[in-house]
Amino acid sequence: MVFPEYRPRRLRRNPQLRSLVRETRLSPEQLIYPLFVVPGKGRREEISSMPGVFRLSVDQLAAEAKELLGLGIQHVLLFGVPEKKDAAASGAYAKAGIIQTATKELKNKAPQLMVTTDVCMCEYTDHGHCGVLERGQVNNDATLEILAKIALSHAQAGADIVAPSDMMDGRVAEIRGVLDENNFEMVPIMSYAVKYASAFYGPFRDAAECAPQEGDRKGYQMDPANSREALREATMDVDEGADILIVKPAVAYLDIIRSLRDEFDLPIAAYHVSGEYAMIKAAAANGWIDGEQVMQETLLSITRAGADIIITYGAKEMARMLNS
Ligand code: PBG
Repeated sequence: MVFPEYRPRRLRRNPQLRSLVRETRLSPEQLIYPLFVVPGKGRREEISSMPGVFRLSVDQLAAEAKELLGLGIQHVLLFGVPEKKDAAASGAYAKAGIIQTATKELKNKAPQLMVTTDVCMCEYTDHGHCGVLERGQVNNDATLEILAKIALSHAQAGADIVAPSDMMDGRVAEIRGVLDENNFEMVPIMSYAVKYASAFYGPFRDAAECAPQEGDRKGYQMDPANSREALREATMDVDEGADILIVKPAVAYLDIIRSLRDEFDLPIAAYHVSGEYAMIKAAAANGWIDGEQVMQETLLSITRAGADIIITYGAKEMARMLNS
């Protein structure tokens, strides 16, 4: 195909032709909206580093669910900020814990909205690490038991999907085992198979109050320099029974999304994380970029890289654009 017989511009002539040949499409159905749930009543507080995202108390969830469903968004990912934290993260698997209460409320008031829960200890430990801390190190095998307890308590509260984000070795098998023993064999595991020790989580750690008090997460989250290791991590989670694989963060790791897409036949989710969202918002607030257009282009790039599902704080904004 050579010029002048072939002219690529022929198919770019107007919006109708462009949309006819568009290779990648965004839809509200592929989006998961993260929700931060806090204790108390009547709380709806905007997160300063994440404009447009709010921390909500349980009584605000029904209205939020209605808004999301109205926009065509059918999935939320729940994070909880508990009243009290302790070394054992007991608030994470308490029957009346924040996530368990929030899940029940949502499944009660908006049963069509699918609830995915974050399974991790970091929001519930006083030290802020994602596992049981022993002499400054997270003990992997001691953490597995607690993670399984957390996942089970979420399923018992009505969670539709559980999403372990701790990066302990062997947790998918452990969680699958406990769920199956308790007749939750139909609850899928959306595993953070590939989660990097990233500086892009900064705003989230403020929102969820889960920054480690000492040290960092490099002993369990992945080194940003590694890509072959991502395949090994994902292979392990697939073998242990994961149903959906998450790559996190998304934009700085598009190559990883693509290699997982090429290697595995499971659905791939990408987490467009807090820092990636905040950068768009900050530049847009300064008038330096068109925030909506950049959001759309960003989510397109994640889809083009091979993600079927996108977890994003921009879900509502994107859905509004798609619906208009
Ligand atoms: C840990 C968790 C984190 C995020 C999701 N789950 C923080 C971390 O690992 O430090 C980050 C999400 C984001 O930045 O948007 N449970």
